[in-house]
Amino acid sequence: MSLPAKVKIVEVGPRDGLQNEKQIIPAEVKIELIKRLTDAGLSVIESGSFVSPKWVPQMAGSDKVLAGITRKAGVSYPALVPNIKGLEHAIAADVEEIAVFGAASETFSLKNINCSREDSLRRFQTVCEAALDRGMRIRGYISCVLGCPYEGDVNPDTVAELAQKLLHMGCYEISLGDTIGVGTPLKAAHLLETVAAKVGMDKLAIHFHDTYGQALANIYACLELGVSVIDSSIAGLGGCPYATGASGNVASEDVVYMLDGLGIETGIDLEKLIDTGWYISGQLQRDPASKVSLVLKNSC
Ligand code: HMG
Ligand code: MG
Repeated sequence: MSLPAKVKIVEVGPRDGLQNEKQIIPAEVKIELIKRLTDAGLSVIESGSFVSPKWVPQMAGSDKVLAGITRKAGVSYPALVPNIKGLEHAIAADVEEIAVFGAASETFSLKNINCSREDSLRRFQTVCEAALDRGMRIRGYISCVLGCPYEGDVNPDTVAELAQKLLHMGCYEISLGDTIGVGTPLKAAHLLETVAAKVGMDKLAIHFHDTYGQALANIYACLELGVSVIDSSIAGLGGCPYATGASGNVASEDVVYMLDGLGIETGIDLEKLIDTGWYISGQLQRDPASKVSLVLKNSC
């Protein structure tokens, strides 16, 4: 067991974070947020979502956001796409990388994208073929990998099978999402080992929500297995619609602080990241949900 020398952070705050905030944030603020995240050294910043605005009003205007950002060479600004209509909107907004998102549980799939897992795979197949034809890169998400708010426990073999199918469609990486943050380190490690045995560790990213305060412990357990891509959200943006009052995605500041302490390279400037967390939290009129940011606010 050895920790990776380098980790890629996938910043999901402008999408996964803000889609779960009650307050709707204007496009100009999202553009400024993405600019600051770019300046802080992030190399992947999920910047929007081309889903139905009736389902997720917080992501309406993603076309303006994608049109308004200045894209830095070497930085990727992916957007979520659930179907061909979403892909058309993404193409019109000059998106170069998309993410498709499936679920490990049948009920979550129905509630989240209004179709069964099998139907969703058919849709993704069409989306992926069209996206690959245009030279776009595709990331795959699997939600509810460690538990579903409707069905409870999830079988790791089900997650592994889904990951294989998404990779087969052309996704370059699969992000394993503990959407409701119920995972604990041994379970998280077992899941990662099971999926990696089928698809290879180099194809996997981890995506923990901090609902039960387990995210950093889960991440550490997965780092020990060699995973080197971690999703996180600036200021811990996000909340969780299935657990009232719960925190959202693990905070990027806390992850980077831990990785710095472990001597793992990220290329991210922690001070700039903390400043960015305070900026977006100010827009939401609250403090960041990052312990590191609360402590280090005045020293940056
Ligand atoms: P539906 O209602 O079954 O769609 O929703 P439909 O095809 O029947 O169309 C209904 C209406 O939506 C039509 O408009 C379509 O044009 C429109 P109307 O005729 O009623 O005016 N429509 C669209 N509009 C804009 N963009 C589109 C689009 N598609 C249809 N792409 C649909 C199906 C998939 C659209 C819907 O369920 C949806 O948008 N779901 C998205 C839900 C979502 O974004 N969830 C959050 C992301 S997943 C996540 O957060 C987990 C993750 O972060 C990992 C983790 O945290 O663990 C990835
Ligand atoms: Mg998430």
